[in-house]
Amino acid sequence: MSQATPSHTPSTTPTIALPAAREADHPIDPQFLNRWSPRAFTGESLDTATLLRFLEAARWAPSGYNVQPWRFVYALAGTPAWATLFETLSVTNQSWAHRASALVLVVSQQRWLPPGKSALEPNATHAFDTGAAWSHLALQASLSGWHAHSIGGFDRALARSSLDIPEDYTPQVIVALGRRGDKAVLPEALQAREQPNTRLPLSAIAAEGRFPFD
Ligand SMILES: Cc1cc2nc3c(=O)[nH]c(=O)nc-3n(C[C@H](O)[C@H](O)[C@H](O)COP(=O)(O)O)c2cc1C
Repeated sequence: MSQATPSHTPSTTPTIALPAAREADHPIDPQFLNRWSPRAFTGESLDTATLLRFLEAARWAPSGYNVQPWRFVYALAGTPAWATLFETLSVTNQSWAHRASALVLVVSQQRWLPPGKSALEPNATHAFDTGAAWSHLALQASLSGWHAHSIGGFDRALARSSLDIPEDYTPQVIVALGRRGDKAVLPEALQAREQPNTRLPLSAIAAEGRFPFD
C-alpha cells in the first residue's frame, strides 16, 4: 500500500521535504506511517496548551484494571526545569535534543492498590501500560504537526535524584517534542539516519496459533 496523504495537515506545514514513503503490508490509517522520530528540530517554542493536548491523549491510554500507572514531568525549552531534564540525557542525545521544544519524563508506578487490599502490590503491566500512553502522546503530537522522539539513553539515577522520584516509580523515557527541522543542523553521523525507518514484515512478528519464532 502506498503512503496516503496525511489525514491531518498541520496549519503550519513544514516547508522541508516530506520523508521517504513507508509502506504498510496491510491497509492502515496513514497516521501510523506518518508518525516517526526525527532528531532535527527547529527549536520553535511549544505553548503549554499544546503540550497538554499531547499529554491528554496519553491520559486516555488503556491500562490493566484502569490503574493508569503513567506519570509525566514536563519542561518547556528555556526553563530551569528543562535544564534539569536535559542534563540527564546522554551526550549523543543532547547533541540533537537541545533543539527540542519540550522534554517530558515518562515515569511508571510499579505497584498498585488492588480493590479490597490495604497495601500496594506489584503491577505486572506498569511498563506495558505506560508504553501505550507514550504511543498515544506520540500519535497526537504527529497528528498536530509536531514530532515526539522517545529517549531511553538518559541517566535514570540522576533523574530520580534531581526530581525526587520515589523508589516505587520507574523512569522510563524522556520524550523530546519539536517541529521537524532541516537535517543539516544535526551532527554528521545523525544526518544519515534522519529518515523514517521500516519494520519487520508482519509474518515475522505474528503467527496463528503457535509460537514459531526463534
Ligand atoms: C523506549 C525507546 C527508547 C528510545 N531511545 C532512544 C535514544 O536514546 N536515542 C534516540 O535517538 N532514539 C531513541 N529511540 C527512538 C527509536 O530509535 C525509534 O523510535 C525507532 O528506531 C523507530 O523509529 P520511529 O520512531 O521513527 O518509527 C527510542 C525509542 C523508544 C520507544
